[in-house]
Amino acid sequence: MESVQVIKQRFGIIGNDAQLNRSIEKATRVAPTDISVLVVGESGVGKESIPKIIHSLSHRKHSNYIAVNCGAIPEGTIDSELFGHEKGAFTGATSTRKGYFEVADGGTIFLDEVGELPLTTQVRLLRVLENGEFIKVGSSDVQKTNVRIVAATNVKMIEAIRKGRFREDLYYRLSTVEIELPPLRNRNGDIHLLFRKFASDFAQKYKMPTVRLSDEAVELLDRYHFPGNIRQLRNIAEQVSVIEENRNISAQVLKQYLPNLSSASLPMVFEDKTSDFQKEEKSNLLKMIYDLRTELDELKKVTFGIMQRNTNHQELEDFYEPHPKALAPSSKAHLLSYSKKEAVEDEEPDEEYSYIETVEEDENLSLQDKEIEMIKKSLERNNDKRKLAAKELGISERTLYRKIKQYNL
Ligand SMILES: Nc1ncnc2c1ncn2[C@@H]1O[C@H](COP(=O)(O)OP(=O)(O)O)[C@@H](O)[C@H]1O
Ligand SMILES: [Mg+2]
Repeated sequence: MESVQVIKQRFGIIGNDAQLNRSIEKATRVAPTDISVLVVGESGVGKESIPKIIHSLSHRKHSNYIAVNCGAIPEGTIDSELFGHEKGAFTGATSTRKGYFEVADGGTIFLDEVGELPLTTQVRLLRVLENGEFIKVGSSDVQKTNVRIVAATNVKMIEAIRKGRFREDLYYRLSTVEIELPPLRNRNGDIHLLFRKFASDFAQKYKMPTVRLSDEAVELLDRYHFPGNIRQLRNIAEQVSVIEENRNISAQVLKQYLPNLSSASLPMVFEDKTSDFQKEEKSNLLKMIYDLRTELDELKKVTFGIMQRNTNHQELEDFYEPHPKALAPSSKAHLLSYSKKEAVEDEEPDEEYSYIETVEEDENLSLQDKEIEMIKKSLERNNDKRKLAAKELGISERTLYRKIKQYNL
């Protein structure tokens, strides 16, 4: 049997929490059997990797693995999705369609948010679990399938049973073995570990230096209750990575990213019910912020260039040096970003740009004149070819275009 450490590595699971390790070990133990497993835990604790572990360590690993989010499929189509339909079974059923239970024959189906299944579908599911039988929508033929079921639910399942929204017999069938994943707030030692991993991932994704937490910020994170668990921590790491200019994150800065929900009764807020559209929207927004920052950096670079040429301040050059990553051919735009030659750790945060900003305030007007002059000259030199001028000036075409308009050139 593979060790828990190897499994964690293989499935990208970070953390050394004892209960997390026990749950992974439990998954490896039941994997070779056909026993139904119910994964329980709050939203965002990482339930989705458990069925994957189980499938890949079982004799079913060469057959299909299908993950179904029961909460995301409309009630009207879920039976047809799961069990298939006959041609003409309903308007729009122009041909016979196989359902997941037929496609996954010999393999594993993961029923995520199983508590959301409509009662009628629960009846069909119970039958598959009991004797492997199902019937396509609009058919009368009984079909057989051999599918291993792993289901997942957040902790509200018991309440659903009490309210009659979930069949108790189905619950017992599904939960022959229960694997519980602990909430993040109970995995104290893992929180910073996870943050560092996410921060480094996002630094790579956005081509920026990795953000780092101060000791106080780490403490704050350890005390936070994380209603959205690891998914929320990941979101926080992404936001901080994109938005914060100073890459050394103090507790005060971090605090702004931790919504102050006073009890754990609001996990829904972070549940992944967002549509793909919303996700894309959010991703676009983050991209926009990123672009804005890039432009800001370019502007600063131009300003810096002008100042260098005109004030002859050798100290300026000594003061700033481009971050090593910014020198990569692909991202010249980040010149002047983030790093001083001296180590920044001991400095007051927010001091990084103070020098430039003071000078900017004093010499704002003359700077603007210089900028206009530079743009004019560059355009002249390049026969009004904006693309070439922008390149020479080290700014984007869009920024140049805006400046031409702004200064009426
Ligand atoms: N231990 C972990 N290490 C690294 N990433 C994790 C861990 N647990 C969860 N994640 C990540 O957090 C997010 C939410 O996990 P998910 O399995 O979808 O949660 P759940 O299904 O319990 O709501 C995913 O992006 C997942 O990759
Ligand atoms: Mg999930």
